[in-house]
Formats: sequence, C-alpha cells, structure tokens
Amino acid sequence: MKAIRSAALTFTADPFLVGAQAAMRYEADALIVFENGVITDFGAYADIKKTLKTSSPRCEITTYTDALVLPGFIDLHVHYPQTQIIGAYGKQLIDWLNRYTFVAEQQFADVNHARVVSSFFLDECLRVGTTTAMVYGTVHAHATDVFFDEASRRNLRMIAGKVMMDRNAPEALRDTPQRGYDESKALIEKWHGNKRLSYAITPRFAPTSSPEQLEAAGALWREFPDCFMQTHISENHDEVAWVKELFPQHKNYLDVYDHYGLVGRRAVFGHGIHLQEAEWQRLSDADAGVAHCPTSNEFLGSGLFKFGDPKNQQRPVRVGLGTDVGAGTSLSPLRTMGEAYKIGELCGHSLCAADAYYLATRGAAEALHLENKIGSLQKGGDADMVVLDLKSTAMIEFRMKFCKSIDEMLAVQMTMADDRATKATYVAGEVAYERDAKKF
Ligand code: GUN
Ligand code: ZN
Repeated sequence: MKAIRSAALTFTADPFLVGAQAAMRYEADALIVFENGVITDFGAYADIKKTLKTSSPRCEITTYTDALVLPGFIDLHVHYPQTQIIGAYGKQLIDWLNRYTFVAEQQFADVNHARVVSSFFLDECLRVGTTTAMVYGTVHAHATDVFFDEASRRNLRMIAGKVMMDRNAPEALRDTPQRGYDESKALIEKWHGNKRLSYAITPRFAPTSSPEQLEAAGALWREFPDCFMQTHISENHDEVAWVKELFPQHKNYLDVYDHYGLVGRRAVFGHGIHLQEAEWQRLSDADAGVAHCPTSNEFLGSGLFKFGDPKNQQRPVRVGLGTDVGAGTSLSPLRTMGEAYKIGELCGHSLCAADAYYLATRGAAEALHLENKIGSLQKGGDADMVVLDLKSTAMIEFRMKFCKSIDEMLAVQMTMADDRATKATYVAGEVAYERDAKKF
C-alpha cells in the first residue's frame, strides 16, 4: 500500500451542466491511498490519515509540495504515426492530409519504424501526464499491433485501432472492406481486454471509406459491441461538402455514420466543429462522445468549436479534449486546455478553469463511458495520476505569487505551463515518469 500527500483536484460531475462549485473537488492537503493499481481511499489528509494508522501502519507516503495531483490526463483523439509531422504547414485539412499525412503514414509499412514511433509517442504521453489516449494507427495492422505491445509493456490503459481506409488515399494506404474487417477483428481478438488495453474500430472518416467498408465496420462493432469506435466528423467546410457529394442520400454527415450503425455509446467523433442541431440532438440521444481538438482546429484553420453546442442542458453531449497530433501542435493537455480556453473566448463562451481541467480528465472519461475507472481521483478507480509542479518555470513561479484563488492558480497553470510541469506520472500506482529522477 502506498499514498501520495499533496494538493489534489478532481471532478465528480460535469461543471458545464451543474456548475464548477458542485462538480469540482479541490483538497489543499489530500491523501490518496492506493494498492494493486487501484485507489483505495482519497480525501483530506487529516481524515484519511486517522483511518490509515490503524488499517496499514506501514503505508509509504510520498509528499509533494508546491504541486497539484490530478487524475492522469486523457487524450481523446490523437494519431501516433503523425508524431513525426507536427508543425507541417500547408493549406487546410485535405491539402495537409495529402501533402504530409498520407506520405508519413506510408513509412509505417516498416514495422521497426512503427515500433520506434510507438515507443517515443508513449514515452512522450507519460512526460506530459497523459495516461490514457484514444489513438489512431495507420492502415497497417502491424503498426497497431506494435503500438499495443509497447502500451502493454508500460501497463497503460490505451485505446487504439488500425485505420480502415479503402478509397481517396494512396494505394499503399488502402485496405479493402474485407481486409479491414479481418485485420481489425484479429487485433480485437488479440488486444481488446488484454491487460488494460481496448480496441477502437477506426474508419478514418467517411470520405476515405466506401459504403461497403462502413458497412463492414458497423458489422464488426455489432459483433464486438464493447469495443470503442472512433472517426472524424465535420472538421472542415470542404470536408463537409465532400461528404455531401459522396453520400447525397443522407440527411447530414452524422447520418452517414448512423446509417452504418456507427453512432452509439463508446463512439468518439473527432472535431464536430460544424455539426448542425439535428446532429447534436442525435449525439445526445445516442450517448456518443465528441473530442474537441483546439490546437489542431487552430493549426489547420478548421474553425471554432462552440461549447454551447454540446453543453446544452436540454440535450447535453459528452465532450473531452484531444490533441489530434500531428495536426495538433502539442501532446501536452495543459497546452490543449490553454487553447480551448482561447477558443471559448473567441466564441463568447468563457471557460472557467474547472471546465478546462474537467475536459482533460473526467470529461474525456465520460465520453468513453469509463468514468468509473479513469479521469477522477476516486475509491476503486485506477491509480493513474499526474503530479504537476506549480512552479515549473521562473515566470510561472513569479506569477503564482499573485494568485488570490484556486481558480486563478488553475487558470495560470493552463495558460502558461507545459510538459515541464509534469513532476511525476503514475501508472496503475507505479511511478512511470519522474522529471527529476537521478540519471546514473
Ligand atoms: N480527417 C481524416 N483524417 C484526419 C487526420 O489524420 N487528421 C485530422 N485532423 N483530420 C482528419
Ligand atoms: Zn484526427
């Protein structure tokens, strides 16, 4: 049995819906107790310490000062193979895909390359405090296989899938409806539920899958209904127009996926910037999730995500934050939260600090329907945690002296901090990354 003593922040509900006061739990001096990878107790140090004395007198306590412990961050939408093309500038989405993404992804035909990038990507996740991510591979089954293998070695709770794509892409990146189905199924059988890993059926987006492939993806999900499903939707105006051209018989973009049985619980749709009211209503009814990817939306000029769309009290939709690397410009959830805040300001919907921290933790867990396991500091939940150094740069240390409230402190961190703030990352109760670890 081990414990962490530190300031801590977690959420018990959605602050967009119930207000920050009711949703946020901040403990200035908390004790988080964990054993066998699971949190066994969490609360004010003064309360928990008393019970601990009698139940486990030999519990080893690690104390962090000038720090804040959060549940491990969740990156709800990211492409590990695109780690090598961050910052590749060009025109908007379609041009960027053709010019950089589809070129880089062809390199993953080489399994060794896929392993090197998987390994680097996962180490970077730990360095930024991300303990769960919903990850796109490439079309190559082996590239997702080695990703799972590397995640398994690190005992991470990762969700990933092989991209299904059978048209409108270079030939080397195309599968077929049958091959996409067969290879995805083999990966599901090998990895879904293996240790802490889960599979996401991954048709890239409607323009790169034929109706037959979308049909196959839907059939696969019906066969393995506890898998996840991930794809892109309504990111860019040209993309939306293209989908209309390719699928003229459908009511809207979401209806294409819906027609093939791809809308439901554990489906996560990336972006959703330009969705219409009927689509938001359907996402709410289906209890599906949306990944808001602010740095990517800015980088590709895709548009501004309006929080009022999903966070409508009458038909709320589950939302978390995604980095969407390599269109996104950083794997850091803090950087992503900072940009989400700015987009909120540009849309006249101010996020409070609680909103942003929620989106990077419990919000994403709710979008995955995994809120009982991850995204919160809670009894029975996974002991996946990040310890943030609240004085990670001279500028932040200086600025923190003038903070008058917790909210202000949280806002300063998400505006100014980055990966340098990750003091430690715990995975299933073990230290998986330690910034200041001695190197021998
Ligand atoms: N839409 C389809 N594929 C992609 C991708 O790789 N990145 C982004 N940002 N959008 C996409
Ligand atoms: Zn994406």
